[in-house]
Amino acid sequence: MDTDRLLQQLTDFLRIPSVSTLPAHSADCRAAAEWVAAELRRLGCREVQFLASGTHPVVWGVGPEVPGAPTLLLYGHYDVQPPDPLDEWTTPPFQPSVRDGRLFARGAADDKGQVFCLLKAIEAAGRPPVNFRFLIEGEEEYGSRVLFDLLRREPERTRADAVLIADMAYVAPGWPAVYTGLRGLCYAEITVRSAKSDLHSGEFGGAAPNAHEELLRLLGRLKGPDGKINIPGLYAAVKRPTRTELTTWRGLPFSETQFLKQRVQAKALAGLKQYSVLERLWALPTFEIHGVLGGFTGEGAKTVIPAEATAKVSLRLVPNQKLKTVERQLAAAVKRLVPRHVQASVRFLHGADPAVVPVDHPAFRLLDRAFREVVGRGTVAVRAGGSIPVVPALGKSGAPVVLTGIGLPDDRLHAPNEKLDLKQLWDGIAVFKRFYELLGQKRTASS
Ligand code: BES
Ligand code: MN
Ligand code: MN
Repeated sequence: MDTDRLLQQLTDFLRIPSVSTLPAHSADCRAAAEWVAAELRRLGCREVQFLASGTHPVVWGVGPEVPGAPTLLLYGHYDVQPPDPLDEWTTPPFQPSVRDGRLFARGAADDKGQVFCLLKAIEAAGRPPVNFRFLIEGEEEYGSRVLFDLLRREPERTRADAVLIADMAYVAPGWPAVYTGLRGLCYAEITVRSAKSDLHSGEFGGAAPNAHEELLRLLGRLKGPDGKINIPGLYAAVKRPTRTELTTWRGLPFSETQFLKQRVQAKALAGLKQYSVLERLWALPTFEIHGVLGGFTGEGAKTVIPAEATAKVSLRLVPNQKLKTVERQLAAAVKRLVPRHVQASVRFLHGADPAVVPVDHPAFRLLDRAFREVVGRGTVAVRAGGSIPVVPALGKSGAPVVLTGIGLPDDRLHAPNEKLDLKQLWDGIAVFKRFYELLGQKRTASS
C-alpha cells in the first residue's frame, strides 16, 4: 500500500469544510460531493450522478458490471458536524495533521475517513468481481431528509445482495464490531409564552408569570433527577434487550469506571441507576436539553421578565418505539405539564426511527472472517447509541445491512480534536478489500 499517497488523498478530502447544517458551507458540501464523484469515476463507474441536487447532493454511482457477481451497495456520508468550539482544537479542524500515528481533523472518523476506506479497498482489491452501487450523501448530520424522500420515491436504488456501511467504531481497540441496532431520534424545540410581551421585573415581579421559570419547571418535570423521563406512555414500547444480548454485553471489554474517568471525564454518571451503563446507552430512551434561548443573556444586567423562552431538546429512541408516536407523546406531555395560563408549543425539526438489524445473513460471516484474517479477531455483535436515519430505509428491499466501522471509541466524534488512528485506517482498507474478495467468490442465484 502506498500509504503516503493515500494519506495525501484523504487529507485533500478532509480539508473541505463540508458542514451540512450551515448554509454558508453549501459550496463546500458540493466540493466534497465532487471529490467523491471523481473517486467513483476513477474506480471505473459507468454511472456517476448527483441526485436531489436541490440541496447537498446525494452521490450515486454504479460500478463496472460483472455478470453473475453479487451486488453490494456502499453507503456513507461526506458531510460533517460544525467544528466549534474552535479554540479547543490543538490544530485547526480543516487542516488535517498527524501526531502520534493519529490523523486529527473534523470528519477523520465520522465519516470521511471511513468512506475513504470503502473506496480505496476497491482499488486495493484490483476491481473485485462485485457489482458495486454507491450512495454517499451530504446531509446525514442533519437528518437525511433528502435521501429519505429519494428512497421513498425510488426504492429500487437500494436493490442489492448486501448493503455495507462503515460509520461506526470498534467496541475497544482490537475488538471489531457489527451492529444489531441503532437508536432513533426525535429533535424538537419547545417554546413557552407567558405574556404578550416582556415586562419590567420591578413593576410586575411577584405578580406576573415568567416564561423562563415556566420553561425550566417544565423541563425539570419532563425528566426527574433519577433519570426517569416523565412522558406518559414513553416506556411502554421499549423492548428489553434479549438474554443473549445482555450476556454478550457483560462480556465486552467495557468498564463503567473507565468510561466515566477516561471518556465522560465527569465526577459521576447520570441516568437510571438500576440499569447497566451499556443498557442506558443502547437500549433505553433519553431526553437531552441542547440549549435554551430567549430572555436576556447579553453583557451587563437587565431587569426584565421574559415573555417567551425556547429549549432545543431531543429524545433518543430504542426498539420498538416509533418516531411518530413519540412526537405525539412529547407534545401531549408538554401540554399536560404546563399550567393553564401558559402557552406551550412544540416544533419538530428532524428525526429517525430506531433501527433493528438482524445479523444472521451469510454476508456477516464474510465480514467476520475478513476482520479475523486482518486484525486477528472477528466481529462482536453490539448496539449503538447514535443514529443513522436512513438505515431502516436501506434495508427495506430485504438486503442485509452490514453496519460496521473502523473507528475507536475515543475518536471524539462531533467534538474538538476528532481523530482517526492510522493503524485503523490501513487495517480498514485491508479488511474491506478482503470482504469484497470473499463476497466476489459468491455467485448469485441468477448466474
Ligand atoms: N456516525 C454517526 C452515528 C453513530 C455515532 C453511530 C456513534 C454509532 C456511534 C452519525 O454520523 C451521527 O452522528 N448521526 C447523528 C444523526 C442525527 C443528526 C439525525 C446522531 O446520531 O446524532
Ligand atoms: Mn457518521
Ligand atoms: Mn456524525
